[in-house]
Amino acid sequence: MLNVELLPTIDNPAVARCRLCGGTTKTLLDLGSMPPANWLMTSHVQAIREFPLVLEKCDCGNFQLGYCLDAEDLYTHYNYATPKSPSLSEHYSRLIGHLEQNGYLNRDSKVIEIGSNVGRFLAALRPRVRSVLGIDPAKNIAEIANRNGIRTLVEFFDRGVARDLACVEGKADLVVARHCLAHNRDPYEILDGIVDVLAPDGALLIENAYAMSTLQKNEFDQIYHEHMFYFTLHAVRTMLERRGLTLVDVMFSDVHGGSIACVAKRSTSNASIASRISAELWHERELLDRGLAQRFVDSTASIQSQLKVTIGNLRDLGNTIYAYGATAKGATLMNSIGLTSRDISYCADSTPIKQGKFIPKCGIEIVSEEWAFANPPDVFLLTAWNYKNELIAKARAAGLERVRFIVPVPDVTIV
Ligand code: TMP
Ligand code: ZN
Repeated sequence: MLNVELLPTIDNPAVARCRLCGGTTKTLLDLGSMPPANWLMTSHVQAIREFPLVLEKCDCGNFQLGYCLDAEDLYTHYNYATPKSPSLSEHYSRLIGHLEQNGYLNRDSKVIEIGSNVGRFLAALRPRVRSVLGIDPAKNIAEIANRNGIRTLVEFFDRGVARDLACVEGKADLVVARHCLAHNRDPYEILDGIVDVLAPDGALLIENAYAMSTLQKNEFDQIYHEHMFYFTLHAVRTMLERRGLTLVDVMFSDVHGGSIACVAKRSTSNASIASRISAELWHERELLDRGLAQRFVDSTASIQSQLKVTIGNLRDLGNTIYAYGATAKGATLMNSIGLTSRDISYCADSTPIKQGKFIPKCGIEIVSEEWAFANPPDVFLLTAWNYKNELIAKARAAGLERVRFIVPVPDVTIV
């Protein structure tokens, strides 16, 4: 049974509420109606439900979806398995190094990760700490983690689960919530549980795609139903303060198009606060006050029309085009401009559980990289542009010297 909570929109601004601060939100960008991006189809003609995809903005610095699906409908059977990627491995090492150097983590730490997926981050942490434990709601994904030796419980993390964990496993010195707080329409449900399971002097690592990167780099395809929040540092600080937590540190990175990893501690713990936080907050406010959000909306329209023309022209000249990366971003990108399998013949992706399925709505079949490289197109639309260098190098190494790549953001370019 599907529950879509149709929250009020701009038509009734008096009740369109920010789910972080309770303030009034305004509609920023309406991408029309789409199925959830990770609901891969098992046939290209499968009927699939669509829901409005609308980005709202609040003056507190929060960006959120106006229409949210129930987390259970989105994650009980999930198709996202963190890929094996050198850039992600480097990112994990950098994060872990920073946590160790700043005293948030040591050899004696007990670590719990929420939304741990197939356990790649915990696998990187495990040799450096006392214990690691993953929690993930997707049974099929948690099974992969357990098979790989990362103990993972299949649960939707909330206060009840947190209390059980605190009793059975003890409190955690580090709680990790990477790319998961944005995936719930009420992040306080998760945050309340985190507070219950966090040791008195423990640290919380929250990582999310960074809204300022999304806006500055025109990454409108980061908008999909799984992403219910687009966090600025202001928004993270607001959320933490409402639960007695203090933002003490922040690290910026290029992963997933630009991410922020924030460290928080209990406000009672007297932890020192990294000096760059106030400068970063000031910088954010300046950019937002100078019309960044509206420029993002304008750039979105311009990228959409350029992409349509570019793909139409390439096809008219007889080129075959595949997408590369069966990403959720790709579903938003292709569906927002009405592409179908007539425009994009296949989508290459390394994830076995995605192969043989179809991108929702546009109905493009997902094939393995090996198959795509053996039957190559003239052009790839780089729908996993966040792995641009890796994917181009992979195709070249497979002997595809002449294949071209359309990179959709921050501007439409052909490599
Ligand atoms: P993400 O941007 O949401 O992490 O998704 C990246 C997708 O790209 C994921 O489905 C796996 C795919 N991928 C490949 O096909 N080959 C690769 O080498 C990498 C790194 C990712
Ligand atoms: Zn707000």
